Amino acid sequence: MAFPRATSAGVIPEEMRLLVSETTAAVVILAAGEGTRMKSRTPKVLHTLAGRSLLGHAIAAAGDLEPRRLVVVVGHAKEQVSAAAVAAAPEAAIVVQEQQLGTGHAMRMVIESVGVMPGTVVVTYGDMPLLRGRTLSELASRHAQAGNAVTVLTARGEFPGFGRIVRDADGAFLRIVEERDASEAERAIDEFNSGCYAFDGALLADAVKRVTTSNSQREEYLTDVVEILRGDGHPVGTLLAADPVEIKGVNDRVQLAQARRALNDRMLTDWMLAGVTVVDPASTWVDANVTIGRDVEIGPQVQLAGATVIGEGARIGPGCLLEDTTVGEDAVLLHAVCRQARIGPRVTVGPFAYLRPGTSIAADAHIGTYVELKKADVGPGAKVPHLTYVGDATIGGGSNIGAGTIFANYDGAAKHHTEIGENAFVGSNTVLVAPVEIGDGAYTAAGSAITENVPAGDLGVARGRQHNSDGWVLRNRPESRSAEAAKRHRSE
Ligand code: UD1
Ligand code: CA
Repeated sequence: MAFPRATSAGVIPEEMRLLVSETTAAVVILAAGEGTRMKSRTPKVLHTLAGRSLLGHAIAAAGDLEPRRLVVVVGHAKEQVSAAAVAAAPEAAIVVQEQQLGTGHAMRMVIESVGVMPGTVVVTYGDMPLLRGRTLSELASRHAQAGNAVTVLTARGEFPGFGRIVRDADGAFLRIVEERDASEAERAIDEFNSGCYAFDGALLADAVKRVTTSNSQREEYLTDVVEILRGDGHPVGTLLAADPVEIKGVNDRVQLAQARRALNDRMLTDWMLAGVTVVDPASTWVDANVTIGRDVEIGPQVQLAGATVIGEGARIGPGCLLEDTTVGEDAVLLHAVCRQARIGPRVTVGPFAYLRPGTSIAADAHIGTYVELKKADVGPGAKVPHLTYVGDATIGGGSNIGAGTIFANYDGAAKHHTEIGENAFVGSNTVLVAPVEIGDGAYTAAGSAITENVPAGDLGVARGRQHNSDGWVLRNRPESRSAEAAKRHRSE
C-alpha cells in the first residue's frame, strides 16, 4: 500500500494531487518583512512549526503546484532567509528587496530582477503556514479557466487588519481596500483579502509599474493592481477559501502557537482517517514530514519529528520522542527517545530507553529499561534488557547482554569498536573495554572487565576469584547482630 504523502499543510492522497492540469509559470513568495512582533533574533519566517519553518511551509505549498519558477522575495535578514529558502528549494530564485516599500514594490522588484513571467503567476506569503498547496492549485486552475487577469483568494470570518473585498450592488468584484484606508461602510465588509493571488504574468508586469503610493502608508500596494487591471477592462475574479483558517498569518508567538495547534490537529485528523489510532490528539505532535502506516497506535505524550517513518501496526507510546527514526512493522516502543535510529519489525524498546544516532536494531530484538545505545548494530532477536550502555558496537543475532553491562568505547582520546558474535552471552555487570571481540557463542562471567578477545565458545572470566575468610565476623565483630545471626547457624 502506498503511504499518503505528508505535505506542509496536511496529508494529500496521491490521486488528489495536481488538481491543476496546466503548468503554473511561477509562484512568488513575499518574505521581506521584519516581523517585529515576534520579538526575536530569529527572522519571523524562520520560526518553526511541525518541523518546518514558516517559509518552509510556504515553499512546500508552492511546490505542490510544480511551478516552472519559484521566486522568494527577501529583505530583512536577507542572508539567513535566502539561505533557508535555497536549502528548502535549491531551484528558488532569490530577489532582494532592500527596503520594504510595500507588497506592490516587492512585486516590481521581482519583475525587474527576473523579467516578465508569461502565464499564471501565483503570489503568496512566507508567513501563512496553514495555506494548503491544494488551495493554491485551485486558485491557479480557477484563474486559468476563467481567463482572468487576476483572481484573488478571499475568506469570510474575523480578520482584523486585513484588506476588504469591495463589490458593486450586483456583487461584482471591484477592488481591495486596506483597513486603514477604508470607510466606515467598507470596514463592515466581512470578506477579506488573503494576500494570495493568481495573476496573468504579462498583465501583472505592466500594471505593477503603474501602482502609486497615494495611501495612508505611502506604500506601493499590490492590491491596487486589481483596480488597475479592472480599469483596463480585464476580467478580475475571486475564489472564496473553503477553510478560512488557511489564510491566517503568523505575526507573534501567540499566533505561532495557534497555527502549530491547528496544523497538528489537521494532520492528526488526516492520519486518523488514513487508519492510525491516536489515543490523545491533544498531547500528540507529528511533524509534516512524518509517515505513519495503517493500524499504528499512538499513545499519549508522543512526538514524531523530522522524517520519522512508522511501519504498520507499530505501537508508539505513551511518552516517546522519535526524531528522524524508522520503526518497523508491529514494533512496540514505550517511553523511548530515539534520534536517527532504525528499528526493525517486532522490536520492543523501553520503557526508558535512549537510542542515539547510528543505532540500528534488527527484527525481533529487545531493548529494555535504562538502556542507551549509540552507533550500535543489534542483530535479529538479540536482547539488551536492563541498565546498559552500548556505544560503537555490533551485537550478533540471538546474543544476550546481561544487566548492567557497559561497553567502554572511549579511552579518553579515541572511540573504539566492540564486536559481539552471534548467540553470545555477556554476564551481568561486564565491562567490555574496546576494542575487543566476543566470539560466536562465547560467554563472559558476571562482573568481568573484559580487555582481551574471548574466542568463540570460550568463557571469559576477568575478576578476582572469591575467597571466604572462615569465622571473620565472629572474630572481628563479636558483639554485633551479624555475629548473633551467624552463631545461630554455627550452633545448629
Ligand atoms: C497585506 C494586504 C492586505 C491583506 C493582508 C493579508 C497589501 C497592501 N495589503 O496587508 O490586503 O489582507 O496582506 O495578510 O498588500 N512584504 C514584503 N515586502 C514589503 C511588504 C510586505 O515582502 O515591502 C511581505 C511581508 O513579509 C509579508 C507580506 O508581504 O509576508 C504581507 O505584508 P504585510 O505588511 O503584512 O501586509 P499587510 O499590511 O498585512
Ligand atoms: Ca500582515
